[in-house]
Amino acid sequence: MKVPFSTDAFPQYPADAIETFGSISRHPIIANCGYTRDSGEAEINRGLASMISYGSLFLANPDLPRRFELNSQLNAPDRATMYGGNDSGYIDYPFLGSEGN
Ligand SMILES: Cc1cc2nc3c(=O)[nH]c(=O)nc-3n(C[C@H](O)[C@H](O)[C@H](O)COP(=O)(O)O)c2cc1C
Repeated sequence: MKVPFSTDAFPQYPADAIETFGSISRHPIIANCGYTRDSGEAEINRGLASMISYGSLFLANPDLPRRFELNSQLNAPDRATMYGGNDSGYIDYPFLGSEGN
């Protein structure tokens, strides 16, 4: 699955923000932006970040930890329902086991 947000899309960002800032920080690093299950694991294993935060994947998958644990298929985030409007896209993504998934 392609994650809809990635700092790769922002040329003003360092190519590797975790390396750039994480290597000089004396504080725990929570890495964020564009991570998947596998790339999050790889980031943790790289040793600079202590934690990964998931934004849009968690929004689209209210049971994201369980899905990661089971390596299950993920609901794809729908950008059209983000950032306003109504509750659609915030409280209605299906949990595992519902709607045939
Ligand atoms: C619906 C939505 C609302 C967000 N609101 C905020 C916000 O209020 N403040 C903020 O700093 N980041 C906000 N973000 C950015 C997320 O915290 C996160 O940095 C971004 O989604 C990239 O991580 P991801 O690839 O795991 O989604 C929001 C993201 C989404 C999808």
